[in-house]
Amino acid sequence: MSAPNKNYDPVEVTALSAEEVDKAVADALAAIAAATDLDELKAARLAHIGGKAPITLAGAEIKALPPSARADAGKRVGKAKGQVNKALTDRQEELERERDERVLVTETVDVTLPFDQFPPGARHPVALTMERLADVFTGMGYEVVDGPEVEAEWYNFDALNVPPDHPAREMQDTLFAARADGKPGKSGTVLRTQTSPLQIRSLLSRSLPLYVVSPGRVYRNEATDATHLAAFHQIEGLAVDEGLTMADLRGAIQAFVDAMFGGGLKTRLRPDYFPFTEPSGEVAMECHLCRGASAQPGGSPCRVCKSTGWIEIAGCGMVNPRVLVACGVDPDRYSGFAFGLGIERALMLAHGVSDIRDTVEGDVRFSRPFGMEI
Ligand code: DAH
Repeated sequence: MSAPNKNYDPVEVTALSAEEVDKAVADALAAIAAATDLDELKAARLAHIGGKAPITLAGAEIKALPPSARADAGKRVGKAKGQVNKALTDRQEELERERDERVLVTETVDVTLPFDQFPPGARHPVALTMERLADVFTGMGYEVVDGPEVEAEWYNFDALNVPPDHPAREMQDTLFAARADGKPGKSGTVLRTQTSPLQIRSLLSRSLPLYVVSPGRVYRNEATDATHLAAFHQIEGLAVDEGLTMADLRGAIQAFVDAMFGGGLKTRLRPDYFPFTEPSGEVAMECHLCRGASAQPGGSPCRVCKSTGWIEIAGCGMVNPRVLVACGVDPDRYSGFAFGLGIERALMLAHGVSDIRDTVEGDVRFSRPFGMEI
């Protein structure tokens, strides 16, 4: 800014000359009119009325004029600023209106359109069945326990009294983990072939008396077909207490069948062999579809029980004292019973699923009819 000077001729101050001020106004109005959106208008405001704009700088020069010239110059600059400000306000309103109209169009929601229908997913029926089975037993005071799927051979076989030369250990049945050193030969680690190792794990880690169930995935070196999978699920049960007998085992199994298939179905125990139970049994229940009628003379055939009237559902038995000893439990004081059953098989029986492969395909259309219970 120049210093006040009594002899100063306003006409000589170029910034304040009428042409300069008019030109500054014309430039400003052109820029304002050319702004197509609010950002451009903001830039025009800064350039033409901001601190470094010609009109602002001209205004600052007024003080340098002799008093006689100030009023006239002040009036001209004031008028110029007024013109520019009015143009800015008008254009601002115009552009805001345009923006609001645009937003109304682009962000319109047609509430009459159908909403996006994402079909709900479904919990997998195998998981649901495992939970339902486990629930039946937790209702009877059992605890749910969990264990690793990659298991030491000792837990999966040795401690369960499966002899070293038992055919079940052979390569066609068991999936062995490779040795860590990459050399051929057995690693001592398997993908568990049954949930029975949880019997050992529970006996070793828990105090007695013991009532546990363990649902989980197991693996077999098996070709897949309509009734076999290489990975499937079982639930294991184990009770160890003083004075437990086969009557307790029968009672537990009957309670389980009542809860899963509705009351009134008989159960049957027939001798079987499992290394970890002695005696061992095979549990069958009366066919829930024909209730045995198909096995009667003249009865119509039943696809569920193949007209035998009975359905095998589980293996069971009294815990072999050798298993108790392997886990440091005194077999003279304690006895126990155990049982194990296939989840997919229970699911197939209960719901008439004829191909076990349907349970692994992951098609939500298979899962949905089983319901969404959580
Ligand atoms: N682990 C056996 C299997 O996979 C099933 C089984 C049978 C479990 C008898 C048991 C039992 O606990 O007592 O074939």
